[in-house]
Amino acid sequence: MASKTGAASVVLIPGDGIGPEITDAVLEVLDAAGAGIRWVPCKAGLAALEDGGDVLPESTIEAIEHHRVALKGPCTTPVGEGFASVNVQLRKHFDLYAAVRPVRSLPGVPTRFENVDLIIIRENTEGLYSGVENEVVPGVVMSMKVATERGCERIAHWAFRFATQRERQKITVFHKANIMKMTDGLFLRASDHAHKREYPNIDYETAIIDAGCMRLVQNPSQFDILLLENLYGDVVSDLCAGLVGGLGVVPGANFGEDAAIFEAVHGSAPDIAGKNVANPLALLMSAVMMLNHLAEERTEFGAVAERIKRAYDQALNDGEKTRDLGGSLNTDQFAKAVIDRL
Ligand code: NAI
Repeated sequence: MASKTGAASVVLIPGDGIGPEITDAVLEVLDAAGAGIRWVPCKAGLAALEDGGDVLPESTIEAIEHHRVALKGPCTTPVGEGFASVNVQLRKHFDLYAAVRPVRSLPGVPTRFENVDLIIIRENTEGLYSGVENEVVPGVVMSMKVATERGCERIAHWAFRFATQRERQKITVFHKANIMKMTDGLFLRASDHAHKREYPNIDYETAIIDAGCMRLVQNPSQFDILLLENLYGDVVSDLCAGLVGGLGVVPGANFGEDAAIFEAVHGSAPDIAGKNVANPLALLMSAVMMLNHLAEERTEFGAVAERIKRAYDQALNDGEKTRDLGGSLNTDQFAKAVIDRL
């Protein structure tokens, strides 16, 4: 975290797959911008396992406990078997209950819609991510969806407070409380109450998630902030990424009371790992969110964040893009294009 003087200390977890290559690119940009970060490198995920340790080593947890801010690359999670997700473990351990994912149209990245400017707020610790699954009898398995009053109320308040601070106009809750009357019902009631009792000035609407998704892909500009429980937030984040150019351009932050971890929405992309073709922009944007977070204690980080943001917007506007966005630059070349515009 930022001390009042000198460099700020931030835990750095490069992660797996494309993680190390996009992390290198992001560090180059931050260095060139003179961000003044003292990185504390730590391992998690397959990288930690291959080192002979745990997927989430105690030393990494202690470092985050101490420094309270981390920039993290994606970590691979085996499908259908194997160890539990490091990402979910980190979010639970540090009670990072609020995930924030800004989704905005970018200059020079033509997509079906213009002027998309959405923020997804995802409850990050409950729902079907409880990881409580069991075999009831052979051939019948069950997964537990958990919602608590405390969890639903705190994310609702967090979202409305965020909307107020950022001067956003409207919150839309996506839910399926017509079917999951207890769990999604609780989530919905907590949001209704927060709106009615404390934040009546923020416009508020609710939508059953299936119809909400249809409206999203018809006209995303009708939404401002989307508030969702854990699984819906996960799925809708990728859907919204598709509205503005894909997973290479959507950053994220996970906030709790005692720590914040910044990471892109995308995963470790094993299909393109090690080829120097991944787009580092989503992680760079996450780093910009991190600098803005650090700026709450030390305002100079805000100016660096703004310079980096202007530089990548300019690079995109000049047609300097990676392949996922229809360009021809590789990971390093995109980082250089941003640095040239700082
Ligand atoms: P993914 O996000 O890694 O990839 C989906 C598709 O998007 C792939 O075709 C990939 O090449 C492309 N893509 C993703 N990021 C890109 C980038 N920066 N530049 C260019 N193309 C990019 O999702 P997938 O394949 O479902 O998951 C792979 C692994 O990542 C899994 O083990 C999963 O559990 C993990 N994962 C980790 C996350 C995290 O650490 N926060 C989040 C999501 C998935």
